[in-house]
Amino acid sequence: MAASTNRYPDACTMVIFGASGDLTNRKLIPALYNLDVDGFLPKNFAVIGFARKPKTDESYRAEMYEAVKEFSRTKPIDEAIWAEFAQRLHYAQSDYGNPDDYEKLNERLREIDGAHDTKGNRLYYLATPPEAYPTIIEHIGESSLCKNFEGAWARIIVEKPFGHDLASARDLNTHTHKYFREEQIYRIDHYLGKETVQNILVFRFANGIYEPIWNRRYIDHVQITVAEDIGVGSRGSYYDHAGVIRDIIQNHMLQLVALTAMEPPVEFSADAVRNEKVKVLKALRVDTTRGDGTIRGQYGPGKVGKSLAQGYTQEEGVPPESTTETYLAMKVLIDNWRWAGVPFYIRSGKRLPKRVSEIAITFKMPPLLLFSDTMGQQIEPNTLALNIQPDEGISLKFGSKVPGSGENIRPVIMDFKYGTSFDVPAPDAYERLILDCMLGDSTLFTRSDEVETAWSLLDSVFDRWNSGSGSFIELYRAGTWGPKQADDFIKADGRQWRVL
Ligand code: BG6
Repeated sequence: MAASTNRYPDACTMVIFGASGDLTNRKLIPALYNLDVDGFLPKNFAVIGFARKPKTDESYRAEMYEAVKEFSRTKPIDEAIWAEFAQRLHYAQSDYGNPDDYEKLNERLREIDGAHDTKGNRLYYLATPPEAYPTIIEHIGESSLCKNFEGAWARIIVEKPFGHDLASARDLNTHTHKYFREEQIYRIDHYLGKETVQNILVFRFANGIYEPIWNRRYIDHVQITVAEDIGVGSRGSYYDHAGVIRDIIQNHMLQLVALTAMEPPVEFSADAVRNEKVKVLKALRVDTTRGDGTIRGQYGPGKVGKSLAQGYTQEEGVPPESTTETYLAMKVLIDNWRWAGVPFYIRSGKRLPKRVSEIAITFKMPPLLLFSDTMGQQIEPNTLALNIQPDEGISLKFGSKVPGSGENIRPVIMDFKYGTSFDVPAPDAYERLILDCMLGDSTLFTRSDEVETAWSLLDSVFDRWNSGSGSFIELYRAGTWGPKQADDFIKADGRQWRVL
């Protein structure tokens, strides 16, 4: 993939907007600390947290120590590394809407440049609720922050959700482009930072044997699953406006579709890769030959593993009459020469029996079933499963003769597991993505046209749902694989969901 490990990032200061929020505690600061542990953080580097709550540098450092202790990938904390790392952390109590606070931030940044020799390079990270993005972007752009030193760079990382439909995504793109050029904008989709997701392109394009069969001639269908056993937790009020379609499908799942289906790029550069992904997204269409092509569900009370789980409408922050979907299954088609007629079934939901994400490619049956008639046995199709998480690896299912004098055939699995093949732990997605941004490599970030094209596909779904001609919300018991209608949906095509 991108050459992060061969390059060393420039000196810089990262400004985290939303510095006392959940994302900062769970992901950002632990990722920075781990980059430091692995020796990837530039020597001249600092962080300044920008948020409303009153804190001093010292109290912020103490809080971040606890966050790293709890959420770091590497454990226990290396006290010597932490002691130095903590000195790079600073805090500025601020109001996102107050222009004076951006001027004060600029002064602090100049002091930090002096103290840490960070050369005026700035990485702004928007980790606030999305409602605050336009205000923050405008204040950065209108303040002295944008009058940067000669030769210094400024980049901005924007967390998802990037808009809530096509119109709002366009507005946010237009607004952001007023102050930042596209190549300065890094729209994050943390799935792209996962090793197994990056490996999709390596698997496809660094090996000669798969590409010739990676098309409608050999592939019967593709199933992509992102299943979670957790519920919405404390994020009920955000989630209720999003639903699984905005939370997971628009970004993570459509990215998985794009990486699975794209053509080989002409080179491994940010624009070449993203050009190919955009082409796939443009060719996507929800199949509406049966109903509206979607099955929507919402979890009711149930049991996940051994624990009792309350229903979605009993969750904190969720209105009792909510009709937001926490499960969605959808059949999409890709109208291009490689994929015409090959359905991609995608499904995602919360409070399913387990956390598992995979892409499964099911190949067509052999043209002549030499063995099935005589043996009266069901031969299963070959399936290649790219296991994204948690059991990272790739497996290929094929039929094999059961040893013995009979001619019995049984499916067997050829398995590759990251854990046993590589002796190195995978970095967290945020480590990879923050490092790439510091390096100025946007290959694993989404471009404006990519985000807009993904939204335009979903706008057609929203239109059908809003017009009342769409699928209904079906209730499913927490701890089950979604509503029964989802099984009927795929069965109607003579197929079934994979048992995971
Ligand atoms: C986030 C969603 O983008 O992805 C969450 O907002 C979801 O609702 C999470 O739980 C899943 O990420 P992962 O890495 O655990 O699969």
